Amino acid sequence: MNTPWTPATWRQYAATQMPHYTDQAALAQVEHKLQAQPPLVFAGEARNLKAELAKVARGEAFLLQGGDCAESFEHFNTNSIRDTFKVLLQMAIVLTYGGQSPVVKIGRLAGQFAKPRSGDTETIGSVTLPSYRGDIINGFGFNADDRRPDPERMMQAYHQSASTLNLLRAFSVGGMADLHRVHQWNLSFVENSPLGKRYQDLASRIDESLAFMSACGINPANTHQIRETSFYTSHEALLLPYEEALTRRDSLTGDWYDCSAHMLWIGDRTRQLDGAHVAYCRGIHNPIGIKVGPTTDVSELLKVIERINPSQEEGKINLIVRMGAHLIEERFPALLKAVHDEGIPVVWSSDPMHGNTIKASNGYKTRDVSNIMQEVQSFFDIHTTQGTIAGGVHFEMTGNNVTECIGGAFKIGEADLSRQYDTQCDPRLNADQALELAFLIADAIRPTHRATFGSAAN
Ligand code: PEP
Ligand code: CO
Repeated sequence: MNTPWTPATWRQYAATQMPHYTDQAALAQVEHKLQAQPPLVFAGEARNLKAELAKVARGEAFLLQGGDCAESFEHFNTNSIRDTFKVLLQMAIVLTYGGQSPVVKIGRLAGQFAKPRSGDTETIGSVTLPSYRGDIINGFGFNADDRRPDPERMMQAYHQSASTLNLLRAFSVGGMADLHRVHQWNLSFVENSPLGKRYQDLASRIDESLAFMSACGINPANTHQIRETSFYTSHEALLLPYEEALTRRDSLTGDWYDCSAHMLWIGDRTRQLDGAHVAYCRGIHNPIGIKVGPTTDVSELLKVIERINPSQEEGKINLIVRMGAHLIEERFPALLKAVHDEGIPVVWSSDPMHGNTIKASNGYKTRDVSNIMQEVQSFFDIHTTQGTIAGGVHFEMTGNNVTECIGGAFKIGEADLSRQYDTQCDPRLNADQALELAFLIADAIRPTHRATFGSAAN
């Protein structure tokens, strides 16, 4: 630990969840090619995000992070990027109004390709093959050819990320993000939702506020905040050869940044104090998320935080709590108190997806919207009890009309799952379910109106 950190330092540590590449020469060649590619994001942007997250940590802004569980090569197309971006903006307006504070928007997009798995192999019948680890590593098809880790896939992931990011940047400033337009989409959602009446009040207040601003002369033509937005990208820093190759030294400060995304996170399976993922993340200056699941050992977590953020910089660490609705009340309060008592500034956010995965009776992996809501509600309640700040939410969601999670106002049942089950990994909220959650959370975070969510089905 005394030798200076380099992007390759992680290689001296135990790396879990990494593929076994058989052709080391091919791997080295891809790493070399990636090192020559332009950065996807710039250090200054990652610093801006850190400053925004510092506001979240202080309760002056709210964090909304969301997108695919895993992006895919096959399902890559303009419309699905546009639709996921649209829903995130729609949710952001509702949350901005609810919390009466800015919403920091981060997509699980433009690089979210590598997946941790519970087993190294998967067996179907008498055939055992390496597990699918995300399109950046191997293929989804259950055959030996697809499942062989292929380093060339990193190049395709890089190029797909570059074009996704290009589109997101254009959407953010090219008129698509205009507040009035996004609010119009929300109005049509409210009109069509079976719970529309419940959202009507909030939607009309937003309408009134926008009309008031226009009357005061604040409009898209003269105020860029109304027609543009800032949007950041993130993914799990799992496939370290890829992240290392995109790690660059900032010419302004001399600091290292992972230029594959603005924010990176460490997964629940790779957050070991002496593991390679922590060893890598401690050297980069991007904001870092750490998933905090039910097996988290509090003293180890404190050491991980100290290692990644020894100077206790605000906006640097985002603890993403993913306990599950049934465990959060039991496991989270002591952990929250321990971190808070150390006086460490962190952003607390709730990932109500990963602790609530269940198997439907017909075999589909799914999540129930009511469990998701219950975990978010508990997360807010625990913060209220302890006087700490519930900083944000982290969802797996898509703008596509999928049927992967059950429940919600449209009452998706187990029998509907087969209709449009497209995910290559975990089940995502569809656009209606995601917006519904945003409306319910907005109600709960209204400063003058601390409500409970109630049930989605009433
Ligand atoms: C994920 O966010 O897709 C993920 C795998 O999460 P976790 O590490 O919390 O299981
Ligand atoms: Co997932």
